[in-house]
Amino acid sequence: MSDANATSLTAAERERERMRQEIIDDLDEEIELELQEEGLGGESSPSDRSFRHTYFSELVRLQGELVRLQDWVKATGHRLVVLFEGRDAAGKGGAIKRITQRLNPRICRVAALPAPTDREKTQWYFQRYVAQLPAAGEIVLFDRSWYNRAGVERVMGFCSDEEYEEFFRSVPEFERMLVRSGIQVVKYWFSITDDEQEARFRARIEDPLKQWKLSPMDLESRRRWELYTKAKETMLERSSIPEVPWWVVQAVDKKRARLNCISHLLAQVPYQPVEHPEVALPPRVYHPDYERQST
Ligand code: ADP
Ligand code: AMP
Ligand code: MLT
Repeated sequence: MSDANATSLTAAERERERMRQEIIDDLDEEIELELQEEGLGGESSPSDRSFRHTYFSELVRLQGELVRLQDWVKATGHRLVVLFEGRDAAGKGGAIKRITQRLNPRICRVAALPAPTDREKTQWYFQRYVAQLPAAGEIVLFDRSWYNRAGVERVMGFCSDEEYEEFFRSVPEFERMLVRSGIQVVKYWFSITDDEQEARFRARIEDPLKQWKLSPMDLESRRRWELYTKAKETMLERSSIPEVPWWVVQAVDKKRARLNCISHLLAQVPYQPVEHPEVALPPRVYHPDYERQST
């Protein structure tokens, strides 16, 4: 029955080809993100291309580890909070995107809160952030966090001196409470230089795909670069506690920053492989009223 054999071999080959295509689609998605960020169609040198290759394969490997971490979080009911802080355009959003890219949004989600409403302004400062904290088996990535009070609110004058001081009295105790309740908290500061921020803002002004990222707050933060520096120094000094230290990510090189941040994060979580029964796809059951060929 060489015919049947040939057919089944072709089916297996087709299946392999399809799997290969899936992997290429995944890479394409990453390349699309990259091109969008670099401003479509830029010339790249051979060493850029070579690093890009290393970057892609390392990123995909780390994302595979994140899937294992997610598996473990779900299986053990671990609760994980990761804070991403840094100046405007430091690359927080891009790093977060790479972390969530291959994860289940019901397990790993992003909290990116807008400016507080008038009602929220009358609440306990931490209240709206508390509402975002994870339940068992969840990971929450904060794209900016309660540290707004020490950064943008301080620099732009959205809080009083008293509120600012009270924040630093509260924040170590607040984070210790989270840790004592069993929540793991990891916090990153994405660090960029003055020149790099300027270059990224210029790119945002010119690229229609990036213009949405440029807010009036960003423009003002250029003017107040020095004040932000002071606010950052104060924040790193007054809110780094042994239970939850600040980790500084050198972020001028976006790709290396992402790889460093993700591999560092992986090293913070004591995840283990989770045993799963082997998955077998059940055969499709056909209803007699329907045609086999229906889609
Ligand atoms: P992003 O850089 O995160 O895209 P923006 O640069 O527009 O956003 O704003 C920076 C941060 O400042 C945001 O977290 C936002 O919620 C906060 N923010 C903006 N306006 C106010 C305000 N009036 N009071 C408090 N926080 C504010
Ligand atoms: P300073 O600590 O004097 O260097 O203040 C830094 C910046 O933070 C100021 O220029 C203001 O923009 C802002 N700021 C500081 N304190 C306040 C405050 N009490 N109310 C509003 N804005 C403030
Ligand atoms: C970043 O690049 O750090 C984030 O997108 C925040 C911003 O838009 O400034």
